[in-house]
Amino acid sequence: MATILDGKEVSKIYRERLKKEIDQLREKGYRKPSLAVILVGNDPASQVYVNNKRKACSKVGIESLFYHLPEDCKEEKLLSLVKELNENPEVDGILVQLPLPKHINPQRVIETIRPDKDVDGFHPENMGKLIANLDSGFIPCTPLGIKILLEHYGIDVQGKDTTIVGAGYIVGKPLSVLLLNQNATVTTCHIYTKDLKKHTLNADILISATGVAHLIKEDMVKEGAVVIDVGISKKDGKIVGDVDFEKVKEKASYITPVPGGVGPMTVTALLLNTFKAYKNHLGLD
Ligand code: GUN
Repeated sequence: MATILDGKEVSKIYRERLKKEIDQLREKGYRKPSLAVILVGNDPASQVYVNNKRKACSKVGIESLFYHLPEDCKEEKLLSLVKELNENPEVDGILVQLPLPKHINPQRVIETIRPDKDVDGFHPENMGKLIANLDSGFIPCTPLGIKILLEHYGIDVQGKDTTIVGAGYIVGKPLSVLLLNQNATVTTCHIYTKDLKKHTLNADILISATGVAHLIKEDMVKEGAVVIDVGISKKDGKIVGDVDFEKVKEKASYITPVPGGVGPMTVTALLLNTFKAYKNHLGLD
């Protein structure tokens, strides 16, 4: 029976620590850190994620400014809002919730966010800094949250066979680089991978980020593996992950639950990135 990697509990520790640091700076007379959150359209899942992020900001003392644009909003309108926030000295971070409606080019939006405010870490300059292993950029929130979670439980990735299922821009690709920077032996699988099971079975650390409910079955997991589930989907009205948790937990050494695993860690990483942007802007540290 695996040890649960409790993202909720670890988040609590990190967020309390962050709140103390922010409180101390406020006592010295510094302004609040602030995050601008932009949501385009009415996707129900995105609305939940954005609400969670804003609530988490408020709890640690980060101001969140919310911009809700209609589904049919012109790309130009969104770009001019981002440019305005780029120039606003009171705004430390800018987050545009993805996915965007089909008529908006997400890459153009991401590239418009000033890299020093790109707390999602999606701007090519920040992605480039990740590949260059430079600390001055922002690491995308889910990969960073997973790194913190593993560190908290003392799980060292160096030399480990690590298989990542999913090669997307938000999780799989940057996570592959992040783990490679920590000297893991990384295999990244995607829809063209010929024999997924071969790669998952080889993994000391298995991370799945596909959004396909229960893709990872127990016969695909090595005995004693560390299993990290990034997926969130609905199955029979229930929120489930990419991993068949009930069966896989009997085989794994450590496993994240869904919900309560990676999700809260992603939000915690966003708070940490926003605080980093704030300190950079104020010339602190
Ligand atoms: N949609 C899914 N994950 C993310 C994320 O980390 N940031 C943003 N902006 N949108 C997302």
